[in-house]
Amino acid sequence: MSKKIYLYGNWKMNMTRPETEGFFKAFAAELAAPELSAAVGKTLEVAVFPPFTSVVTAKNSADSLNKAIAPIVGAQNVYFEQSGAFTGEVSIPMLKDAGASHVILGHSERRVIFGESDELIAKKVKAALSADLIPVFCYGETLQEREGDKTSDVVKRQISALGGLSSEELKKIIYAYEPVWAIGTGKSATSAEAQEVCALSKKLIEGLGAAGPVVVLYGGSVKPDNAKEILSMDAIDGALVGGASLKADSFLKIYKSYAGI
Ligand code: PGA
Repeated sequence: MSKKIYLYGNWKMNMTRPETEGFFKAFAAELAAPELSAAVGKTLEVAVFPPFTSVVTAKNSADSLNKAIAPIVGAQNVYFEQSGAFTGEVSIPMLKDAGASHVILGHSERRVIFGESDELIAKKVKAALSADLIPVFCYGETLQEREGDKTSDVVKRQISALGGLSSEELKKIIYAYEPVWAIGTGKSATSAEAQEVCALSKKLIEGLGAAGPVVVLYGGSVKPDNAKEILSMDAIDGALVGGASLKADSFLKIYKSYAGI
């Protein structure tokens, strides 16, 4: 029960600035509990990923908390170019200026709805790493791919897109296995299914030459009532949470149910 848990909240296209402030107010109240505040920064790392328009508000709210309990603030996407004629895009310097230290890349909603390719995602990962922005690299199979017994091929293809990175760069990335069929559907992978692919991922990333063990999260319908089983699996270092991360109490309950507090 003593491993460090990464609890990352992907807010997707939710949370205005007032809602973000409300989240942080509730977060601070939850963190008044000594069992929880004692865990943050030691056995628990918390991060939130608001939409672009709420990143500054989240960062300001985080900075107003006691440094020891403040969550990491990240963003949900970025473009790899520094600046210029890329209407609708946001650059890495802009994200850093807004206070983000992490960025989600390769989320299945970006891959499927917005057509992002393995190649584009790898470019974004490389650019983020070069600027010391930590990528949360997401990958995972669709239902059709799972039913066609293609899960390991798909995961191999998605991870091998990172093959051009150095050992140190591979180690800095936070990886998130998110089976597409489990995202936002209420139908989580079983802990055994999640464990199997996270363990395979670690092998594949080591095979690419990562300098030491890497962090692999599971994402897809993680909630307080399935968190303990999933987070107890030894290849799973934490959770990337969508729906249940929008409220501080359900979000933190995911860790509490794992830790039994
Ligand atoms: P979910 O989303 O927890 O709502 O399934 C997870 C994610 O997309 O990161």
